[in-house]
Amino acid sequence: MEILIKNICCIGAGYVGGPTMTMMASKCPDLIFNVVDINKTRITSWNNEDLSKLPIFEPGLEELIAKTRNKNLFFSTNIKEAIESADIIFISVNTPTKTKGLGAGKSSDLKWVEASARQVAKYSKGYTIVVEKSTLPVRTAEVIENILKTAKTNSKKEEISFDVLSNPEFLAEGTAIKDLDKPDRVLIGGDNKNAMIALNNIYKAWVPEDKILFTNIWSSELAKLTSNAFLAQRVSSINSISAICEVTGADIREVSRAIGKDSRIGSKFLDSGPGFGGSCFKKDILNLVYLAEYFGLTEVANFWQSVVQINTWHQKRISEIVVKKLFGTVTNKKLVVLGFAFKANTNDTRESAAITICKNLLNEGANLVIHDPKVTACQIENDLDINPTKSLETDISSFIAKSGAWKHSKSIDNLAIFNDAYAVLILTEWGEFRKLNWNDISKRMVPPAWVFDSRSIINTDEVREAGLNLWRIGDGLENK
Ligand code: NAD
Ligand code: UGA
Repeated sequence: MEILIKNICCIGAGYVGGPTMTMMASKCPDLIFNVVDINKTRITSWNNEDLSKLPIFEPGLEELIAKTRNKNLFFSTNIKEAIESADIIFISVNTPTKTKGLGAGKSSDLKWVEASARQVAKYSKGYTIVVEKSTLPVRTAEVIENILKTAKTNSKKEEISFDVLSNPEFLAEGTAIKDLDKPDRVLIGGDNKNAMIALNNIYKAWVPEDKILFTNIWSSELAKLTSNAFLAQRVSSINSISAICEVTGADIREVSRAIGKDSRIGSKFLDSGPGFGGSCFKKDILNLVYLAEYFGLTEVANFWQSVVQINTWHQKRISEIVVKKLFGTVTNKKLVVLGFAFKANTNDTRESAAITICKNLLNEGANLVIHDPKVTACQIENDLDINPTKSLETDISSFIAKSGAWKHSKSIDNLAIFNDAYAVLILTEWGEFRKLNWNDISKRMVPPAWVFDSRSIINTDEVREAGLNLWRIGDGLENK
């Protein structure tokens, strides 16, 4: 029997819920999308008239919001109403690693998923399809089903029933709109064919049918974790080789290019950097580790755990290199940090390598001036857990006299940020950092000044010609 869908609810208006529903709303103008969240501030930002003030920065998102918002896409905190009217509900809430209790440090904290399922059980009407959009440990669908099954009637004593599907999201931040528009695949896991077809009917509006895969629910959950684990593994692999390059005289860019030409390996995801960040890679691998340990697969658990361990080691390695190059001490030295987001084209800093590297350098007594085109001072303060110093940009001597202090710089346009700096560290590959005028910058710095390029984005000739010392990730000749 065909299941007709008209009203869609998404619980969770974050980096996944917001862009995903916006894309669906733009492709399915006859359907109504209600995106709800318990976070009032976030919803207010989603509804902000000024599209530059949306809660997340994502290229192409503003245009799509302008096309759909308050037409067939609505952001609100009215969770009850959105659930009541929904034929299909996407659960798109956060699933961070548990910080305490059973499985702490590895398994996902499902309290937000559980709360969402309970809200669905309380307010839904008639038959509803519930879709896991969040990334979840294998067999979480069972947990959701169990919660829903106990509710035979809703708060108004009306009969209710459900089907649970898994439909993990594969978008990457910074390219979310492009990824959603042309996904490599859409995965629909479940056991009720009619419910799966109903969800398929939404995607069919713009995704070619051969890209939509039907699987059983557990394969779908595991495929999402595995996909992230494989991607993270590639980054850890190439970063581990960058360390070998630096001591042997090889160049990681040349090695990447050479191995990427092998069609079995492929050229994507082979850029060595300061270590992978983002809210999901570490969390999802640790989830896999927990699963393997739970089933007594110790060797499997150790294999995946090492991908995270190498990443942590690599971030520490970079901060140590900075200290060593600056004559073994950075105490009271001003260092300019360019980039704080975990990758370019996003304002997200979760698990950003910049957090670890900056904390390590602050611990060593360095004074940091941090600039990122999209990350706010308030976000950096939260991440570093240290208040920024109040000294003015011009009051450089009092800033330098401090030790382990940091301040934010909104702009790098007038180059004042580089005055009296001992080094510049590039931690995120923002396009604007590629165009810096190193000749002008070098005149403002304290010789022998250094540039540390952890993303391989700057013109090495220009830096050298400006008389600056250069360290570049995985560059065996440059770093001698
Ligand atoms: P997020 O933290 O940005 O957003 C989650 C939102 O859910 C928050 O705004 C929070 O207030 C809201 N929420 C929590 N409990 C709620 C409840 N009971 N009712 C209503 N709202 C509630 O997280 P995110 O980055 O969007 O990730 C969401 C899920 O998607 C995670 O499982 C993540 O692993 C997965 N995922 C994320 C990405 C990504 O690029 N960020 C990509 C693919 C998958
Ligand atoms: C990643 C996956 O790419 C998405 O498919 C997935 O949906 C998402 O996680 C998720 O589940 O959250 P995301 O974390 O947004 O997306 O960004 P990526 O482009 O994967 O980058 C992750 C980290 O790896 C970044 O810190 C990035 O700088 C780093 N990276 C990536 C490298 O250091 N080198 C590379 O070649 C690629």
